[in-house]
Amino acid sequence: MAYVLGLDISTTGAKALIVDERGTVVASHTTPQPISAPKPLWSEQNPADWWDGIVASIRAALSESGIGADEISAIGVTGQMHGLVLLDAGGNVLRPSILWNDQRTQAQCDQMTEKIGFERLIQLTGNRALTGFTAPKILWVRENEPEVYARAAHILLPKDYLRLKLTGEYGMDMSDASGTSLLNVAERRWSTEVADALNIPIEWLPTLYEGPEISGVISEAAASETGLKAGTPVVGGGGDQAAGAVGVGAVKPGIISLVVGTSGVVFAPLDRYAYEPNGALHAFCHAVPNTWHFMGVMLSAAGSLQWFHDTLAHGETFDDLLAPTKDIAPGSDGLLFLPYLTGERTPHPDPLARGAFVGLTVRHTRAHMARAVLEGVAFGLRDAFELIRMAGLPAQIEVRVSGGGAKSPLWKQIIADVLNAPLVSTNSTEGAGYGAALLAAVAAGMYPDVPTACAQAIITSDLVTPGDERAAYDKPYTLYRDLYPALKGTFRQF
Ligand code: XUL
Repeated sequence: MAYVLGLDISTTGAKALIVDERGTVVASHTTPQPISAPKPLWSEQNPADWWDGIVASIRAALSESGIGADEISAIGVTGQMHGLVLLDAGGNVLRPSILWNDQRTQAQCDQMTEKIGFERLIQLTGNRALTGFTAPKILWVRENEPEVYARAAHILLPKDYLRLKLTGEYGMDMSDASGTSLLNVAERRWSTEVADALNIPIEWLPTLYEGPEISGVISEAAASETGLKAGTPVVGGGGDQAAGAVGVGAVKPGIISLVVGTSGVVFAPLDRYAYEPNGALHAFCHAVPNTWHFMGVMLSAAGSLQWFHDTLAHGETFDDLLAPTKDIAPGSDGLLFLPYLTGERTPHPDPLARGAFVGLTVRHTRAHMARAVLEGVAFGLRDAFELIRMAGLPAQIEVRVSGGGAKSPLWKQIIADVLNAPLVSTNSTEGAGYGAALLAAVAAGMYPDVPTACAQAIITSDLVTPGDERAAYDKPYTLYRDLYPALKGTFRQF
């Protein structure tokens, strides 16, 4: 039996998982990761913590599985996207990484849009300038920490810092590079036009790889720290969303990945490059060679329910909190919830957007509020879904749902009704790390290509189809759509 290793550096944990050649997970270990918010809108982590965490997880997964390091044929890397890792010429980290959910860079986004032009930026990079993306963070460091900027020589993303530590190579895969605002997404190469306009040295940017392409091998130094075998290949891998899509088999048009995690993501594979002219959707390279995808990202999906639980049902189980919501009719008796608790990206790219309950009366109970949260998140996902539908979807679609929110049958039914689309679950619950392992399995020759790997390793189950209550959500959704434009001015003044 041959094995592959998937490594996933998420915002909350550093995960290592070992998968056999049939696609079965044989060991998985996660080391929790600290996060800091030293100022309002800031979100940072120390790359040294990622490395310590992944070393601990690799060692634990190897020992749990009883597999020898020489039985690992290849390694795939994935992780949180967009985070800026700035290094000097010797590969030393210059400051904490500025993460995907950091919102400090609106002024730099405005400068980027002004310099390059709104339409041209979207044509070139597939996306508008967004606070979470990497390029505005580089400009922020130049303006605010010139002494740090002066020493910079390399730019990496979180999982690519692991690659550097594992192999000594500065590399990045196409899907993660798409979230930097520096990639020509259509042509899968760095955009000299964007880099020049922003005065970012192109030589700071690493070598680009496709997801299953070999980017380097485990060095002697990394082998002695991790227990892995020197010479084991490490593939390009993918950003967490693209690798997660591989992990549920969303690798061809019509198979949509829907993630109901802290954030909510609607991910639609494309077999040719396309972009949404207003940049309301992300247009990125997929981790599958020469394919792309649209993506809508809502920042607080299961995060909204988590907040509601921690604030109003602390100490109770989620099941207890949600049980009484089953008896409430769709529309929560006229109560609406706006899920912008941490600002929003899709369909309103607005770090200042806020959450709201609208329509409260004395008749409403906590159960109504909980149901309104479930529905409000489903409406936010529908916003992204509608944009993708308008941009073009095949007639037959299948939505593969994952993430913590997918554990609730009630929430899955609400989402299937609100989207008017069938939902299925998949056998792997390991998310992006599993996708990264499949990309490694292709490089190891276990499968001829990524779609074949997915077809053989991934099984779908638990079909949820839109039910009789589907139409009952149309009116509340229409009312929900009116809320953000009505409240936007107020949000600006908080
Ligand atoms: C994708 C995104 C998140 C992060 C963290 O654009 O911002 O998925 O990668 O998970």
